[in-house]
Amino acid sequence: MVRDSRIPGFYKLTREERMKKIHEVTGIPEGELKPLFDPGSVDMEILDHMIENVVGSMTLPLGIATNFRVDEKDYLIPMALEEPSVVAAASNAARMAREHGGFETDDTGPVMIGQIQAVDVPEPFMAKERILEIKNELIELANEQDPILVRFGGGARDLRVRVIDTKVGPMVVTELIVDTRDAMGANAVNTMAEALAPRIESISGGRVLLRILSNLADLRLVRAKATFDKKLLGGEEVVDGVVAAWAFAEADPYRCATHNKGIMNGIDAVVIATGNDFRAIEAGAHSYAAVDGYSSLTKYEKNSEGHLVGSIEIPMAVGLVGGATKIHPVARACVQILGVKTATELGRVIASVGLAQNLAALRALASEGIQKGHMSLHARNVAATAGAKGELVDRVAEQLVKEKNVKVERAKEILEELSK
Ligand code: MEV
Repeated sequence: MVRDSRIPGFYKLTREERMKKIHEVTGIPEGELKPLFDPGSVDMEILDHMIENVVGSMTLPLGIATNFRVDEKDYLIPMALEEPSVVAAASNAARMAREHGGFETDDTGPVMIGQIQAVDVPEPFMAKERILEIKNELIELANEQDPILVRFGGGARDLRVRVIDTKVGPMVVTELIVDTRDAMGANAVNTMAEALAPRIESISGGRVLLRILSNLADLRLVRAKATFDKKLLGGEEVVDGVVAAWAFAEADPYRCATHNKGIMNGIDAVVIATGNDFRAIEAGAHSYAAVDGYSSLTKYEKNSEGHLVGSIEIPMAVGLVGGATKIHPVARACVQILGVKTATELGRVIASVGLAQNLAALRALASEGIQKGHMSLHARNVAATAGAKGELVDRVAEQLVKEKNVKVERAKEILEELSK
């Protein structure tokens, strides 16, 4: 079914109406989306087996960002997070990109790195050569650990060795390069790294200690770019403002941390909604940003027509098979809503959300400031809490903002006056 992610006024609908709209747009049967609309229906038995000492569950609001078009395909974006404004901001930025065709993406393939640390190696550089001499044997041994991954077209592809200097002497670090296909890959890579350890010990004459995946997944990059319309942004002044805001982040780590945090607002929300490991994504993002001195994960410039061109490049170790993504009913429903077929497609969409989120934040910061948007969204929440429904939500919210008195008590009074 061809989806249309442009749903004007989605935010004005009631929750039930939004739910109906999602059925309409995606064609996913109601039963399959139930865990998402009714988290209480999630079987606690499932959660009980996910981690240890389970006593309950922690629910987060799950919103749907609209307007996303990535590589000429529309996507509805499930986002799980506690912070107001993020979903609205992402939808808004996606609309500005949509005007010029949406996001264009690419990726380097789902390739992860596993590290095997050897210490007390008598001749580290000779050991390196000896390990490289039996590279093919080691790759074969790694692939014997995961015939299913190999059958799906993945598996160990290459191996590299580095000798590093440390506070406790030189170490020989063997790095196994593994195509993990639609898996995040931690299990596959760790199993392979552990299997290679005895052979590396015998050939290096040292002792193997750590055998573990690296979260600096710089061989698993996704990229997205988009042109954001100058008129929708608010004019060329805003375009220049966004470029200057980005340059500030590039030049200053105090600003850059917050700039990249804004990107992760969008990225983590989708990563969490799809049951992926957001700590891995955070670690990958910030370590990649720090490789040549901490800098921005995005870039911006003004094109010859005065529009804003933005891009992002970021490691994206997300999976669609295994882990919570397959087990957790809400994560499964979210993957269905996204309609992604491969982990790299999911990664490319997530990168687009990160770029949209960053652009939205920079636009607000470079123009009216971040608080105005926050305040009007907060006012809508307050109006709804006071009992306003449908169109009244906006009318009450507007009045609250105008009076600079965004309180439930006042919202109730306004609601009563308007209802007379
Ligand atoms: C808040 O969660 C995120 C921002 O601080 C990001 C930024 O400053 O770019 C608004």
